[in-house]
Amino acid sequence: MDKILKINRKIYSFKKIINVEGDKSLSIRWVLISSLSKKKSIAFNLLKSEDVMSAINCIKALGSKVKFKKNKCEIIGNGLQFNNKKELVLNAGNSGTLGRLILGLLINSKKKIKLIGDKSLSRRDFSRVTVPLKKFGAKFKGSKNLPLEMKGVNNPKPIKYFEKKGSAQCKTTIMLAALKSNGLTTIKAKKSRDHTELMLKYLKIPIQIKKADKRYDQIKIYGIKDISPLNYKIPGDISSCSFFIVLTLLSKKSELLIRNININPTRIGIIKILKMMGGSIKFLNKRSYKGEKISDIYVKSSKNLKGINCPTKYNSSAIDEFLVIFLVAARSKGVSNFRDISELNQKESPRLKWASKILNFMGIKNIMTKSSIKIFGNPNLNLEKKINIKNFSKDHRIFMMSVIAALTFGGQWKINDLDSIKTSFPKFLEILKKIER
Ligand code: S3P
Repeated sequence: MDKILKINRKIYSFKKIINVEGDKSLSIRWVLISSLSKKKSIAFNLLKSEDVMSAINCIKALGSKVKFKKNKCEIIGNGLQFNNKKELVLNAGNSGTLGRLILGLLINSKKKIKLIGDKSLSRRDFSRVTVPLKKFGAKFKGSKNLPLEMKGVNNPKPIKYFEKKGSAQCKTTIMLAALKSNGLTTIKAKKSRDHTELMLKYLKIPIQIKKADKRYDQIKIYGIKDISPLNYKIPGDISSCSFFIVLTLLSKKSELLIRNININPTRIGIIKILKMMGGSIKFLNKRSYKGEKISDIYVKSSKNLKGINCPTKYNSSAIDEFLVIFLVAARSKGVSNFRDISELNQKESPRLKWASKILNFMGIKNIMTKSSIKIFGNPNLNLEKKINIKNFSKDHRIFMMSVIAALTFGGQWKINDLDSIKTSFPKFLEILKKIER
């Protein structure tokens, strides 16, 4: 039975300091990259969510050794060559990042590997990675959706590829395959999160990143013979933070300090957008760590929020945060416009459609197309009605968005699939309790 969360209260004013769990993108990348080294890699604060555990299970099935001790995780991988003697089935669960990235690692697997995932992952597009992987020489049975079977090649050929979607998952999959190829791979990629590039640079792997033009990077990466271990202290996840940032902005007389968050410039679209809308948010104590930027984030409740024409240049750096940004638009004075966001419908659930539905339930007028949404804000909205959120493909971010909407707009909410938070942010409700106490 799916667990339901009932919320019949608005949040009181609060003044708190919190930490959120480790960054999901960094955690999955650390697991996969560490599995390529024969020496021991150590991470602290690895996110222990279902997506990351699926990554751990996949690399274990491929021969890596993994140990957990409290907040520490150790991986001893099996190098860049595969020695799996058997055909395998790998399960990526709910994770698009894992499902796509792992196919890059499998480029030189001599045995057939079948990739499966849950219902939500099985309806997502895999052609964005199977197309470039075929250029390296991989063979596939099925190539658009899971389940699919892949057979790698002995000597992957380096490729030239043009990545137009701004998908960090696609870009990373190609980079991981390129590491195992024999020569120079060149990728022209629409700008997107660059954690992989930073980790590979830190490991002194021959990789070069140049601005191709305003919206595109050119990445040159060479195949390698071995890779050093990667020790990493994983900072907090801005995507997890985003729920509490918006909770604070929309609550009365509240302040929140969130410690130790990754503020990589390719991830902070939400901060730029919310500031444009009049949100009071500051970065404090900025520092650098292994190429990444880290900071504490200070947020204050903000009155007089205003609707905006959201610049599309922020789309990729806010891609996982639009759902809560829409809640701020719902409370703002005037109309907000978000364009070119069809990728939202390619996530764990068709998020653009779901956001529009939830806004409709709340009585917020909105006009949605395949790739845009116009939201007519109502600064005085105070809900008193019953709202029931169900059948949203157990999408963790839809669940958490609904919780924040309930606590800030009022009403009597029944929100299904509480367990969905285990995918990315298992401590979400525990931290919320701390804020409310
Ligand atoms: C991610 C990239 C994004 C994002 C996802 C995590 C990553 O997907 O939505 O949650 O870690 O690379 P796309 O690369 O498909 O845009």
